Amino acid sequence: MIYNNIDFNNKTILITGGAGFIGSNLAFYFQENFPNSKVIVFDCFRSDEIFPNGNQKSFGHFKNLIGFKGEVICGNINNIDDLKRLNNYKIDFMFHQAAISDTRVYDQEIIFKTNVNSFYDLLAIAKNNQAVIVYASSAATYGRQPSPQTVGNESPENPYGYSKYLMDQIAYKYSNENPEMTIVGLKFFNVYGPGEYYKGKTSSVVIQLGHQILNGKAPRLFEGSDKIFRDFINIKDVLQANIKACNPKQNGVYNVGTGNPRSFQDIADILQKELGTDLGNDYISNPYDDYQVHTQADISSSIINLSFKPIVSLEQGIKEYIPEIKRLHGANPS
Ligand SMILES: NC(=O)c1ccc[n+]([C@@H]2O[C@H](COP(=O)([O-])OP(=O)(O)OC[C@H]3O[C@@H](n4cnc5c(N)ncnc54)[C@H](O)[C@@H]3O)[C@@H](O)[C@H]2O)c1
Repeated sequence: MIYNNIDFNNKTILITGGAGFIGSNLAFYFQENFPNSKVIVFDCFRSDEIFPNGNQKSFGHFKNLIGFKGEVICGNINNIDDLKRLNNYKIDFMFHQAAISDTRVYDQEIIFKTNVNSFYDLLAIAKNNQAVIVYASSAATYGRQPSPQTVGNESPENPYGYSKYLMDQIAYKYSNENPEMTIVGLKFFNVYGPGEYYKGKTSSVVIQLGHQILNGKAPRLFEGSDKIFRDFINIKDVLQANIKACNPKQNGVYNVGTGNPRSFQDIADILQKELGTDLGNDYISNPYDDYQVHTQADISSSIINLSFKPIVSLEQGIKEYIPEIKRLHGANPS
């Protein structure tokens, strides 16, 4: 799918975090739609390092890149020497996805070094190359702000959310100081779709519940899940937002959601329908008293300034995802 009239053929495209969920989808998007583009994936991939919460320190996985024909650089955005490898290229577009993406990491030093410090370096690289830079911000910047979450009304509740909030502030300032640059931040809401499996416990509820059902178990949900809403956004619409962000009416930070929140119960019900099961539900009490029960992206400025228009419904997105959920059922997650 081509989303605007930018011709990425003969352009050099850097994707940081390109071995991860969104980054690898971007890499294949360019490979398939712009076969003469030069795509560089820069990612530290996963190591044996584990955070105290039991999750991997980084989720990049070679299996997300099987079939990718572009260049792959294993490098750490925190390492200036690794970043120097990028001096060999004249970059036209940079999609900065690399981050500690786990919202439940509380080691503030590693989060801010990875998500914030490196952003300064990548902005400088974009500036030197006169490259467009589109970076991943997050709905986590809103914390428990009431719906609809609107850009400018952030109140992050965890280090991850604050790191993305800081990135937005840096981007605004950099943009003011360098008005000739194109700098766009995208606040992704709950993204789901192929490529997320290797995020383990931080992958979306869609694949996690899908695998529970394929295990013959009733989907495990918090009590009242029909009243717990999230703005789930399909990976295809996230690609659309990234492409359209390359040609914004104005620099800025934009929400990437559907504006149409759906409940966790909806997800479980759609999955059971598509998988042909009738296992009921396994309700458990919600241990969090400060749980966010409703997110909904205000996408008005994304529509105006990016011409962003989400097109994949939850029903369609899950239906199309089912073969991949089945393929990965029981696959080695590490
Ligand atoms: N998936 C979502 O629902 C969602 C929602 C909001 C924001 N985001 C943001 O979007 C971006 C992409 O998310 P994702 O879901 O693809 O996550 P992901 O964890 O799959 O991808 C991040 C990639 O960055 C790489 N990485 C991590 N630290 C690195 C480092 N120091 N140097 C080089 N590479 C490093 C990882 O190996 C991984 O491949 C992230 O910035 C994330 O915070 C994602």
